[in-house]
Amino acid sequence: MKKSLVLVNLFLIIFQLSAEVKPVSSIQIIPQPNKITVADGNFQLTKDTKILYKGGDAAKPIAEKLAAKLSRSTGFQYAVSTSVAGKTSIIFVLDKKQEANAEAYKVSVKPKQIMVSASSAQGLFYGLQTLRQLFPAVIESENSTPTAWAIPCVQIEDFPRYAYRGLHLDVSRHFFDKKFILKYIDMMAMYKYNTFHWHLTDDQGWRIEIKKYPLLTKKSAFRTECSGDTTGGFYTQEDVKEVVAYAAERFVTVIPEIEMPGHAVAVLAAYPELSCSGGPFTVANTWGVFHDVFCAGNDKTFEFLENVMTEIVPLFPSKYIHIGGDECKKTRWERCIKCQARMKTENLADEHKLQSYFINRMEKFLQSKGKQIIGWDEILEGGASKTATIMSWRGIKGGIEAAKAGNYVVMTPGTHCYFDHYQGVESEEPPAFPHNRFLPLQQVYTFNPTPKELNADEAKYILGGQANVWSEYIPTTNQAEYMLYPRALAMIECLWSKTENKNYEFFEQKVHTHYLRMENYGINFSKSADRESTKIKWQSIQKK
Ligand code: ACM
Ligand code: ZN
Repeated sequence: MKKSLVLVNLFLIIFQLSAEVKPVSSIQIIPQPNKITVADGNFQLTKDTKILYKGGDAAKPIAEKLAAKLSRSTGFQYAVSTSVAGKTSIIFVLDKKQEANAEAYKVSVKPKQIMVSASSAQGLFYGLQTLRQLFPAVIESENSTPTAWAIPCVQIEDFPRYAYRGLHLDVSRHFFDKKFILKYIDMMAMYKYNTFHWHLTDDQGWRIEIKKYPLLTKKSAFRTECSGDTTGGFYTQEDVKEVVAYAAERFVTVIPEIEMPGHAVAVLAAYPELSCSGGPFTVANTWGVFHDVFCAGNDKTFEFLENVMTEIVPLFPSKYIHIGGDECKKTRWERCIKCQARMKTENLADEHKLQSYFINRMEKFLQSKGKQIIGWDEILEGGASKTATIMSWRGIKGGIEAAKAGNYVVMTPGTHCYFDHYQGVESEEPPAFPHNRFLPLQQVYTFNPTPKELNADEAKYILGGQANVWSEYIPTTNQAEYMLYPRALAMIECLWSKTENKNYEFFEQKVHTHYLRMENYGINFSKSADRESTKIKWQSIQKK
C-alpha cells in the first residue's frame, strides 16, 4: 500500500473513532441545577476507568450504585475501591467541610477525572443522579454502545430550594402492590424527591396490617364493587418495613397517613361501635365525602386510634405522622349524645372546636411517642396547635394563614398539585365524568410554593411542596404513571430549582430527552408536553 494511502486510512480510522465518542453538547438535567459551567473536552468512560470513594464508608454504596449501573450498561465489570486510580477515574468524595446543607453536592467532569463531592451520603446520592443524567439516556439501557459513554466537561454546584419535596399516593381508592411502590420510590429518588406521603386509609379501604385489630385487614381492606366483584388488598407490617428501608436507602422519607376523624367508613365497617350511630356500615364503593365519621365523644375511638398509632410509630422513622383531618362532616356529631356531652365537659363552643379537640388530643399522644403531626388545612378550623404542620390543599390561603401564625407548611394547592386532574387544557365542552378539572404540564411549572403575601420571616415556614395522586379514577399502575409523568418532572423543578433558573421552553426540551430515560425505566409516561393544541389553548388562556 502506498504511504499516502496508509496515512489516509489511518486518518479515517482516527476520525471514525473520535466521531464514535462524540459527546452530547447540551446538559439536560431535571431538576435544573443551580450553577453549570461547561468547559472544553469530554470524559470518556472505558473498561479501565476506576470507580473510587473517599472520606468514609458512607460513600461506598453510592459508588457501588454507579459501578452496578455502568457494568450493566457497558458489559464491563466495574468494582469500587478506595485507592487505585486509573488513567481515568470517577471519584465520590465525602467532604465534611463542604456546604452545611446535607443535600448539596458538586460534580466536576474533567477529561481524566470525574469528582462527585458532598458533605453527606445524601448529597453524594444527588450528585450521582446528576451524573447519570450527564450521560446520554441510552446509558440507562443494557448493552449501550460506546457513543453513550462520553460526557462533556462541566462543573456543577447544586442544592435544593426546599427541604420538603413530596409525592403522595392514594392506595385506598385503588390498591397498588408493593412492587409498584418500590418503583414509585425509585423514580422519586432519581428526580431528587425526598418525601413519600403514603395515603394508607380512607373510606374505600384500609391498607396496613394492625395486629391488634385483625378485622382492619380481613374486612376493611376489601370492598364489594357495584359489579359484585371484590377488590382490595393491604400491606403487611413486613411489607411496610421493606418499603421504608428501601426508601431510606434512596434518601426518601415515608410519611404514613392515617385518616381521622373523617374518611373512616372502612374502619367503621369492621368496628361500627366507633361511630356515632352504631352502624351497620359497609366499606364504601362510591367516591365522595361521607357523613359517618369517628365518634369524637366515645373514649373507645381514642383507645382504638392510640393502639393503631402504637403499631404505626415504630414502623416509620419519619419525624411526621399524617393524621388527615380533611373533609370531616359534622352532621353526626351534631346529633350524637356522646359528642355533645364531650363538647359540654370540654367547654367546646361548636363542632369545629370538637374537631380541634380530636386532633389536639391525638397530637399530644403522638408527641408522647416522639412524633409531630402533619394534617390537611382543615385542622386550622377550630384552632391548630403551634406544633402542627399544615398541608395547604384548598388553595394557598390555609398555608398563608398558617405560616403567618408560625406553623410550618407544605404547599399542595389543587390548582397546581393535583395530578388526578387531566393533563390537557379545559376544552369548550369538558367531560362530565369523572370530573372536569385540568392541570396541564405548563400550569404545574408555574407553581411557586412561597406566596408573595409572606414576608421573609414568614416565608421560612414554607417547608416545600407536594404533588398528590388521588386514585378514585386511577385503577391501574400504568395509569398512575401516566398521570404522574412528566408532570412530576415539572413539579420537582418548582421544588428544587431556583426560580431564576427555571425556563419552560428549555424544560420542555429536556422533557423530550427524558422520555427516552423514562422509557428505559419502563415508565408509562404521558406525552403531554407534545400536545400542540394544549399549548395553543394554554397560550390563549395566559393572554386573557
Ligand atoms: C383532599 O384532597 N381531600 C386533601
Ligand atoms: Zn359521636
